[in-house]
Amino acid sequence: MARPGNINGNKRITIRDIAEKKRRQERISVVTSYDYSLASLCDGAGADILMVGDSAGMVMLGYENTVPVTMEEMCMFTGAVGRARKRSFIVSDLPFMSYQTGVSDAIANAGRLVRAGADAVKLEGGSEMASKIRGITDAGIPVMGHIGLRPQTAGLAGGYRVQGRTAAEARRLLDDAAAIEEAGAFSVVLELVTRQAAKAVTEGISIPTIGIGSGPGCDGQVLVIHDMLGMYDAIKPKFAKRYRNLSDEIAGAVSSYVGDVVDGVFPAQENCFEMDEIECGRLAETLKKGRTHT
Ligand code: KIV
Repeated sequence: MARPGNINGNKRITIRDIAEKKRRQERISVVTSYDYSLASLCDGAGADILMVGDSAGMVMLGYENTVPVTMEEMCMFTGAVGRARKRSFIVSDLPFMSYQTGVSDAIANAGRLVRAGADAVKLEGGSEMASKIRGITDAGIPVMGHIGLRPQTAGLAGGYRVQGRTAAEARRLLDDAAAIEEAGAFSVVLELVTRQAAKAVTEGISIPTIGIGSGPGCDGQVLVIHDMLGMYDAIKPKFAKRYRNLSDEIAGAVSSYVGDVVDGVFPAQENCFEMDEIECGRLAETLKKGRTHT
């Protein structure tokens, strides 16, 4: 039976399905995934897109930001998500300096992510990235753009700040989104953009917009799974809705386990494997003889 958000039953979701959702004004659900177990759950729960974001560097690897993330790390996360996926579409981030250095680097690194398991790649930047988007799409790999706040270069651009607060900024965002569409991208992430600017961009282009911290006017929404599940406390963004508080659940479970080990309550009878009685007798006999070697 089709789940909510699942337009395709158990068939794999394609970029055509995602484009179709915008035409039908159906919202697109996207969640980040980095490992096999959580990706299986997100796929089974009906997410349209599993995004292997370079946010993995922070929530999975403990980096301070996304800048240190490497291609090798992104390929490893993408492989794990690829092995878990049954029907969701997989988009993987090209990490910092894997595409800014030239069109041929962008194509080669996009190819590595697809070999690892991605269906499409995402890269940050506006009209200045058009040649890379064009190169990758001409090579047959779908591209998702990413404008508004661009975490890979946010430090250089003056930190994490809301984008599109003025009409002029909103106009620039719309021009960037149009250039990305023109270059062949199949969709674009709008990160930390004012609600009004995000709505104007969404209405001004024909590819779907996927918002994060950009209000309800986008065609779809993406959240970092650790924010959604309350598993990463270093940053608590205002825009991220917490659906669970797993940090407390997990810490509680581990501290119960530690207590059980210390108290000798775990493992219990039901967690053990038994010898049969005859073998127990033989063991007792052999132990009576003492050690067989010194
Ligand atoms: O790295 C990431 O997870 C992302 C999304 C949250 C948009 O870029």
